[in-house]
Amino acid sequence: MEIRAARSTDIAEIAPFFRAIVADGESYTYPDDLTDDEIRDAWLAPPPGHTIVAVVDGTVVGTARMGPNKPGRGDHVGTASFMVDPASSARGVGRAMAEWVIRWHRENGYKAIQFNAVVETNVAAVRLWESLGFRIIGTVPRAYRSRRHGLVGLHIMYLELENGS
Ligand SMILES: CC(C)(COP(=O)(O)OP(=O)(O)OC[C@H]1O[C@@H](n2cnc3c(N)ncnc32)[C@H](O)[C@@H]1OP(=O)(O)O)[C@@H](O)C(=O)NCCC(=O)NCCS
Repeated sequence: MEIRAARSTDIAEIAPFFRAIVADGESYTYPDDLTDDEIRDAWLAPPPGHTIVAVVDGTVVGTARMGPNKPGRGDHVGTASFMVDPASSARGVGRAMAEWVIRWHRENGYKAIQFNAVVETNVAAVRLWESLGFRIIGTVPRAYRSRRHGLVGLHIMYLELENGS
């Protein structure tokens, strides 16, 4: 598996699984049926953010975007979002990208990573983040309308990278 910076031309491969994951209704709050151009604008993070793709045998099987969670005085805390093509799930793509993303935050001087909205019923994601050291800071009750589970909570998850000031 190769992990490299995403290019504008990758959107053609990202868009079908992006739309499938959003339509599945269990993880994201993007509107359904975004066009490829809207997905490009939403997903390709401008500097200082960054977007990567995971490529297997020449095919884009996953992508992640990252960058400061807040601007200005909050920009020492990063955030990230992940999507793995359902056809390639549970094969280590998400874990490999997450490890890459944590390293990127360390190398770029971030002191922590905060996930703002992890759907509490998204067991694969919650397990993966916890296995990497993220902890649940709190849960916003009934903040997500899961297609299968109805109103469920959104976890804020947090990984400290560096103690002190
Ligand atoms: C969540 C997601 C990124 C995980 O990526 P993945 O490539 O499928 O996951 P991996 O194969 O790397 O598995 C990593 C861990 O996830 C967990 N996991 C993966 N699939 C799982 C499943 N079906 N059930 C339970 N746990 C699962 C396991 O803890 C696994 O640990 P392991 O490495 O010890 O096996 C991916 O499923 C995805 O894109 N889902 C839809 C979008 C999404 O939920 N994004 C995250 C929003 S917070």
